[in-house]
This record gives sequence, structure tokens and C-alpha cells, in this order.
Amino acid sequence: MFGIKEKIVIITGAAQGLGQGIAEVFAKQGAIVVPTDRAGVSLEETMAMCKKAGAFDVYAHELDITDPASINKAVADVKHRYGRIDILVNNAGRNHPKHSEEITEELWDSVMDVNLKGSFFMTQAVLPVMKEQKKGRILFTSSVAGLVAREHQVPYCASKGAVDAMLRTLAYDYAAFGITVNAVAPCFAMTELTKTRLEDPSYRSMVLGMIPVGRLVEPSEVGAVFAFLASEEAAMITGQTIVIDGGWTIW
Ligand SMILES: NC(=O)c1ccc[n+]([C@@H]2O[C@H](COP(=O)([O-])OP(=O)(O)OC[C@H]3O[C@@H](n4cnc5c(N)ncnc54)[C@H](O)[C@@H]3O)[C@@H](O)[C@H]2O)c1
Repeated sequence: MFGIKEKIVIITGAAQGLGQGIAEVFAKQGAIVVPTDRAGVSLEETMAMCKKAGAFDVYAHELDITDPASINKAVADVKHRYGRIDILVNNAGRNHPKHSEEITEELWDSVMDVNLKGSFFMTQAVLPVMKEQKKGRILFTSSVAGLVAREHQVPYCASKGAVDAMLRTLAYDYAAFGITVNAVAPCFAMTELTKTRLEDPSYRSMVLGMIPVGRLVEPSEVGAVFAFLASEEAAMITGQTIVIDGGWTIW
């Protein structure tokens, strides 16, 4: 489909959900997929899916984006094994819906540390490699929650809005080095992150009522946009958040 064959892609939070779906799409395009996730979280299923889908190679690696030592080890190991890092997908994310008056500093930090701070420092770790290559693609899984209000999700919405703002400046700072920086902002997909809420029929019908297309987004649809943004063909797209929301934000 797009020019990502044999490109090396690190995907964070790839053990399940959207990250796993993104990994499979990259694998189908013949990329070298490096699915990563926190310690103790199995990447076996993702590895098997990637191999079956036709990945050029699969190299699973532990990577906790809140731990600088873990970030540095994973980046060094991938660089050592393949000699380059072409694409980073900052996908790992957390959400803890809670009424604003009940949000503790600990809860606030736990969301921001993954969604915003962890994604930034993960990005920072690959920048020297991509600068040296004079080429790279940095991608984020943002969310419609960065663009519209979501009930009782202040830290999550703030983190995703901040990701969108952050990537514009990263895109500006690194454009001259052949590095593009973009995000994909999906609406609801059925994953562990959303399952409990979406299994509630009234919540689900409220969500579907927001989406003119009338359904949730599939992980493969999110992965396809990432694959395009990661490709050679998307070299002139940078600093953008591409919304995949079935029309949620057009009305
Ligand atoms: N599911 C949705 O409806 C939806 C919509 C828009 C955006 N998103 C975003 O998509 C991304 C993936 O979410 P999902 O729905 O697949 O959720 P998920 O809970 O199924 O997967 C999240 C993954 O991130 C990993 N993770 C959490 N903390 C981590 C850390 N410190 N280091 C490394 N990995 C860590 C988890 O282990 C898990 O594998 C998130 O950034 C989320 O905000 C999801």
C-alpha cells in the first residue's frame, strides 16, 4: 500500500487494543515491527499476529514509557539490532474517568505521566537516531477527547489536547531534519480502555449518537492512517492531528 516495507517501527502499548491493531497493519505492509509494552505484559499475541500478517521481522521488547532507563534500553537495543529507527508510534495511554472534585494529584500524574510526559521522553530518545538518519516519522495516538469535552475525564482530555499542541512544536523544530511528527485522533474503539463503559447499553448508545457514521472505529482503520502517515508518500504532512471519528467533530 504505502512505502513502509522493511521500515523499523517501534510501537508503545502494543500488547492489546489499538497498539496491537496498529502493529498488525504495519506487519501487513512488510515492516519490521517492534511491539513494546510494560514489564509483565505479554506481547506473545501481538508477535504471533505480526508474524502471521507478514512482518519482515518482529522484535518484541519491554518498554515502560514512564521509566527513562527502560526507554533508553529499548531504543539502544533496537538501534543495535537494526542500525536505525524509522518510525515511532507513541500509542501507550491511560484513562481514569473521575469527577473533577475527586481527582487526586496521584491520579492526575498517572494519566499525564503516560499520555504526555512518557510520550515526550520516548520521542526525545529516538530524536538523535532520526536526526543522524536525516529521516524519521514520529506518531502519536491522540483522541477526539483532545478536541471535544468528555464527561469526567479532565486529565485524559487535557493530556490529549497537550499531545496535539506538543507535536506541532516538535514538527516545527525537526522539519529541517527530515522528521515529520503527526497524530491520529480516533473516536471510540472497543478496547480494555473503553470496554466497561461501552458495555453499558445507555453509554454505548450515547456514544453512537455522537458518531454520524453510526459505529465505533476499528483498530485496523486507525492503523491504516498511521501506516500512511509513516510512509514516504506522507513526507509533506507534519504537525497535524488526523481525526478518525466517523464525523463526531463536524457537528
Ligand atoms: N479505545 C479508544 O476508544 C481510544 C480512542 C481514542 C484514543 N485512544 C488512545 O489509544 C491508545 C491505546 O489505547 P487502547 O484503547 O488500545 O487502550 P488499552 O488499555 O487496550 O491499551 C493501552 C496499552 O498501553 C499500555 N501502557 C499503559 N501504560 C504504559 C506504560 N507506562 N508504558 C508502556 N505501555 C503502557 C498498556 O499496557 C496497554 O497495552 C491510548 O493512547 C488511548 O488514549 C483510545
